[in-house]
Amino acid sequence: MNRRLDNSIKRIAALGHYNKPENVEGTIKLDSNENFALDREFVAGVAAEAARQVDLREYPLDQLEDLYSRLAKYSGVNEKCVAAGSGSDQIIELLLSTLGGGRATVFAPTFSYFINRCELHGIKVDQVPLKRDFTLDKKAFVKSARKSDLVYICSPNNPTGNQIDKQEAIDVIDSLESRLVLVDEAYVDFADYSLSADATKRNNVIVLRTLSKAFGLAGARVGYMVANEKFVRTFRSTIQSPYPISTLSLAIASGVLARADHIRKTISTVKRERGRVFGRLAKIDGIKTFRSDANFLFIEAGRNYQPISKALRSSGIVVKMLGNVAGHRGCMRVTIGTREMNDKFLQCVEGSL
Ligand SMILES: Cc1ncc(COP(=O)(O)O)c(C=O)c1O
Repeated sequence: MNRRLDNSIKRIAALGHYNKPENVEGTIKLDSNENFALDREFVAGVAAEAARQVDLREYPLDQLEDLYSRLAKYSGVNEKCVAAGSGSDQIIELLLSTLGGGRATVFAPTFSYFINRCELHGIKVDQVPLKRDFTLDKKAFVKSARKSDLVYICSPNNPTGNQIDKQEAIDVIDSLESRLVLVDEAYVDFADYSLSADATKRNNVIVLRTLSKAFGLAGARVGYMVANEKFVRTFRSTIQSPYPISTLSLAIASGVLARADHIRKTISTVKRERGRVFGRLAKIDGIKTFRSDANFLFIEAGRNYQPISKALRSSGIVVKMLGNVAGHRGCMRVTIGTREMNDKFLQCVEGSL
C-alpha cells in the first residue's frame, strides 16, 4: 500500500470515536436523551400520514423550503436564517470540513463527538476545564479561544446538563468577533434561553439545533442551524449537498412541527419530571445530582457507582455510565423518560443504597 495512505489510515484508526450504545430488547432506555415522553403512536401517526403523502420516486425539491419556514416559526427567526441537515451531526461535519481551521477551543467536559470529529479533521482541540460546579471559567476560556479558529459552546451542555449564564455566553461571543462560534443547542427546547435570534444578527455565530431530542425524531435524522442570512445562503447553496434529508424524513419533520403545541406540552411534562426526579435524588445521601436545563441529569455517585450500576443492570435499566469525569468520581447521565420509567429508575437507585 502507498505509504502516505497507510499512515493516514493508521492515524485515523488510532483516534477516539463514538461508541454506539448497545441495543438490548426490553430494557428501559435512559442512555441517549431521546424523548419517550412523546407517545410512540403520535410519531407513528405522523409518519404514516407522511408516507402516504410523499412520492419517493422524486428527489425532494420543495419540501426543504417548507421545513425551513416551519423551523423558523418555531425558533422565532426569519426563514432565510435557517438551514437543515441529516442530523446536527452532519451539519457539524460540514462546518468542520469547510471552516474548521487548525485549532478549536471547547470547555470540558463536553460533547465528546465534537472533539472526536475535530481530531478526525486534524483540528487541534484545547479543552478548558469548567469550574467544579460546571459553570464557565470565562477568563481562561476567552484566553484559549483567542488563539483558536473555532469555538464550541454546548448549551445546555452534554453531559453536565447545565447552560452557561446567557450574558456570559454573549460576552464570550462578542469578544471573539473574528472567530467562528458554534453554539450547540441540541437540548435547548428544555432550557431557559436560546441564542438563535442573537446568531442571526452576528457574523460569527452558528446555532445548531435538532429534532432528535424534544421532537422525538432521533431516527428521522433531521438537524438544523440558525445563522445570519448571508452565511445561510452560502451554506444552503454550496456547503450542504442538494438533497441531505430524505423526502420521508422531511415530511415527518414538517408533520411534527405542524403539531408543535403537542411537543411543547411534552416538553413541559419532561421539565416537570426533571424537577421531580432531581428532588428525589437530592434526598439520597452519598450521591450528588447537578442542576439541569436539559432532558437528562448528571449524577456523581462516588463510591456508590458500582452498587447503583449493578442494580440498574439487573433491573434492565440502561443509563450512560461515565466513570470519573473532570475530578468527579463515579458519574452517570440519565435521561428523563416517562413518569413510569423515571419511577423505575428512582426505585432502583434508592433500593441499591
Ligand atoms: C450536544 C449534542 N449535539 C448534537 C447531537 C446530535 O444530534 P443529531 O441527532 O441531530 O445528530 C447530540 C446527540 O446526542 C448531542 O448530545
